[in-house]
Amino acid sequence: MGVRPRDVLLNGAARFSSLRSSLRKVRDRGKEWDDDRRIKRCLEYVETRREFFTDERIQEATILEVGSGMHVGLATLLLACGAKKLINIEIDADYFHDEAGFYEKLCRRAQEDGIPVSWPPRGLRLSADGSRVEPDPQYFELHLGENAARVRPPAGSIDITFSVAVFEHVRTADMSTVARSLFEMTKPGGVGYHRVDLADHYFRKSNPFRFLENSPMEYSLMYSNRGSSSNRLRMDDIERIFRDAGWEDVTYSDVVKFPDVEQFETFRRRFHPDFRDRDPEMLRATSVMLCLRR
Ligand SMILES: C[S@@+](CC[C@H](N)C(=O)[O-])C[C@H]1O[C@@H](n2cnc3c(N)ncnc32)[C@H](O)[C@@H]1O
Repeated sequence: MGVRPRDVLLNGAARFSSLRSSLRKVRDRGKEWDDDRRIKRCLEYVETRREFFTDERIQEATILEVGSGMHVGLATLLLACGAKKLINIEIDADYFHDEAGFYEKLCRRAQEDGIPVSWPPRGLRLSADGSRVEPDPQYFELHLGENAARVRPPAGSIDITFSVAVFEHVRTADMSTVARSLFEMTKPGGVGYHRVDLADHYFRKSNPFRFLENSPMEYSLMYSNRGSSSNRLRMDDIERIFRDAGWEDVTYSDVVKFPDVEQFETFRRRFHPDFRDRDPEMLRATSVMLCLRR
């Protein structure tokens, strides 16, 4: 498929963090922080996590989230559901939205959905003027600006690990360390639920497999530094990495596959040889829930 000069330029600029945040601002112009959209998504996320974790398992659990993103709304609601402690590891140091109004609205909506949460919620402290929140270290351990491949909570200290749309962004070279470290920190009998988005984030609608057309070198030249760059691991790669890290119980749930097989085959003919001849059923998945049990 070849490299596109515009993408090589954007990727070069994204190498420098100040330029990366400017590029992000340009990209997100017109998409201002939207409380309602984020709250809606957060409530959907908590419902799915409760379904997988079960309310019984959440009680008194120490839960670790990888890549919490811009706020700790989901973690706050899991504390409200009975978790003892939330550990969040987020590689982006700038990511902490601390506006009290957002969390207050979230808690109100969560209450309407039957989540037993008060204001201020357990785990968040209000600033003197009530406009900001800060995480209470008794309930939260935030590792902002840290890579999940480097942070190592004590072995056997975690009941549940989870992430939402994060593993596809972890650098390929870091994936086995992340898998190993999640294995070591999880208690025997503990679980992990990690939603992985396997689609090309830049061409999701027109061709969710477009990035599989590039050689590793081409992809790296165009995307390696950019925010939504992917490691392009497929579901069988991820399973192998986790098994090699020691997890025996590695399964998938809620596997979403591209529905139009004929169209998929048209896309597949253009894949780079590294991907083209692999099991088409593995390639066709666009989103999965990776389920781990220690
Ligand atoms: C697509 S966002 C998802 C954020 C959030 N989970 C959500 O669903 O809104 C991926 C997040 O993973 C973080 N991330 C990527 N690689 C990481 C790593 N190695 N360690 C920790 N966080 C990472 C990114 O900074 C980003 O916030």
